[in-house]
Amino acid sequence: MSESKKFYITTPIYYPSGRFHIGTAYTTTLANTIKKYRQARGYDSYLLTGLDEHGQKIQEVAISKGKTPQEHVDEIAEMAQELWKTMKIENDDFIRTTEERHTKVVEKIFTKFMENGDIYKGEYEGWYCTPCETYFTPTQLVDGKCPDCGREVKKMKEEAYFFNMKKYEKRLIEFYEKNPDFIDPIFRKNEIFNNFIKPGLEDLCVTRTSFDWGIKVKSDEKHVIYVWLDALTNYITALGYMSDDKTRFNKYWPADLQIVGKDIIRFHGIYWPIFLMALDLPLPKKLLVHGWVMMKDGKMSKSKGNVIYPETLIERYGLDATKYFLLKELVGGQDGVFTPEGFVERFNSELCNDLGNLVNRTIGMINKYFDGIIPSKPKKLTNLDNELEAFINKKIEVVEKEMDDSHVVNALDEIWKIISRANKYIDETMPWVLYKEKKTEELEDIMYHLVEVLRKVTIMMRPAMEETSDNIFKQLSISDFELKTWESIKEYPEILKNLKIIEKGEPIFVRLDVNEEIEFLKREMKK
Ligand code: MSP
Repeated sequence: MSESKKFYITTPIYYPSGRFHIGTAYTTTLANTIKKYRQARGYDSYLLTGLDEHGQKIQEVAISKGKTPQEHVDEIAEMAQELWKTMKIENDDFIRTTEERHTKVVEKIFTKFMENGDIYKGEYEGWYCTPCETYFTPTQLVDGKCPDCGREVKKMKEEAYFFNMKKYEKRLIEFYEKNPDFIDPIFRKNEIFNNFIKPGLEDLCVTRTSFDWGIKVKSDEKHVIYVWLDALTNYITALGYMSDDKTRFNKYWPADLQIVGKDIIRFHGIYWPIFLMALDLPLPKKLLVHGWVMMKDGKMSKSKGNVIYPETLIERYGLDATKYFLLKELVGGQDGVFTPEGFVERFNSELCNDLGNLVNRTIGMINKYFDGIIPSKPKKLTNLDNELEAFINKKIEVVEKEMDDSHVVNALDEIWKIISRANKYIDETMPWVLYKEKKTEELEDIMYHLVEVLRKVTIMMRPAMEETSDNIFKQLSISDFELKTWESIKEYPEILKNLKIIEKGEPIFVRLDVNEEIEFLKREMKK
C-alpha cells in the first residue's frame, strides 16, 4: 500500500468523569464512519480514541466516590471500551494518559521544550475555572464567569511553567493563511482566528501545583504537567513517538483528520499546532469541528434530569437507528437537539418509510413476480431507466465528494435522496399494472433496476450502518465480494442475474408507536 493511501483519524480523548452520554457516542460514531469509508476506498485507515485521565477534576470525582484516581479511571476505561464494543467501533488503539507509553514520552517532550527554551518558569495569576481546569484573562470572562461553562471563577496565583506561545505566533498565522481550510467548517475557524489568534497569543501555563494527579515535571516534582500538554500529545504518543518502536508513528503521522467538539477548538487550533511546530513535526491535515448534541432545555446534565445514554437507545431501537439519528442530527458544525419526538419521527419516516419500504417493496415484488429470482440486466434501456441511472451516477459522485470531505451528514442526505427517487420510480412505473398486463420484459427491467439501486445504496450507507447493510445484502442474497465493493457502485453489473433473494425477509426497521416511545424516552431521560 502506498504511503499516500493511509488515513489517520482521531477523536478527542474523553474525560473519564462518568458514564458516556450520546454526545460522546456521536463523536466516536462519526470517526468510525469515516474510518470505514476510507477502508472501503482502499485506505489503510487507523482510528485512535482513548481517555484523558489526569487532572484535578478526575481526582475530585474519584475522592467523592471513595476511590483512588487510578481505581476510578480503570473502572471508566473498562466501561468506555465496553461501550465501543457494543457500538462496534473499530478503533485501532485506545490510549489512556496514565499508561507508561504516554507518561514517559510526555516527560521527554517537556524536557525537550525546556532545553529548547520553549518552556520557562514564571508566576501565574489569573481567573481559574476549576471544572474546566483553565485559567482565563479578565477579558475572556463572560459576565465575570467562565466563558466555557458559565460557572464561577476564582482569582489564583501560583509558580508555574509557561510555554512561550508568542514565539510561534507569526508561524501560526502564516500557517492559517496558507491553509485556510485547516479548520472545517470555516465559521469555526473564523471564530478562533479572529477572537484568539489575531488579538495576540498569551503564553500558556503548562503546569500546576494545586493538585498532584498527573505527570510530574522530572526536574521539579512539585509541578504537575497541566492536562492540555499531557492530553494533546496523546495523538502522537499512541503512535510510538519518541519510543523505541516508531513504525506506526512514521507510517501514520501527520493525522489526516482530527475530530473535535466546538468547545475544544482553541486547544486544537492554537496550542496543538504550536506544540507540533516546537517539536518540528508536520501538522494535522484537517480539524473537523462539530457542535453539540443538546436537549430542549440546554446541555445534558444529570441534575437537570435530561441525559440520554447510548445503551438505552441501542437496546430498544438497535445500533444502526441510534447511529443514524446521531449522524443526521448534527449538521455543518452546528448543535443538534435530541428530543424523543424527533428521534421517533426520524425513525418512522426515514428508516421505516423511506429505506424500509424500498427494501420491502423490492423484495416483495421480486418474490411475487419472479419467484425471488433477480432478473438479468435488460438489453434495452427505456428513457426512464436512463434518467434513473444518470440521477444515481450523479448522486454517487456527490456522496463520494461529501465523504471525502468527511461530511457524513451530507452524504447520508444524498443517499436518502436516491432512496426517495427509487421509491418514486416504483410509483411511476407501477409494476403491479405491468404484472397484470403480463409485460414481463418491462417488469424484469424495473426489478433489475430496483435491486441495483438498493445494492448501491446499501454499499454507500455501510460505513455508517453496517448491520443494516449486511441485513439487506442477506435479503438480496448478495454475498459475492465483488458486488459489495465501493468501486462496484459505478457499474451496472450483469452478474446479478439468477440470484435468489430470500423469500420473506424480516423488516429492517419496525414502525414505532409514537406515543408509547415518546413516553418511554421521557421516562429514561429522568432516570
Ligand atoms: N479531555 C478533553 C479533550 C482532550 S483531547 C486532547 C475533553 N474531554 S470531554 O470529555 O470533556 O469532551 C470530549 C469531547 O466530547 C469534546 O470534543 C466535546 O466537545 C465532546 N462533547 C461533550 N459533550 C458533547 C455533546 N453533548 N455533544 C457532542 N459532543 C460533546 O474535552
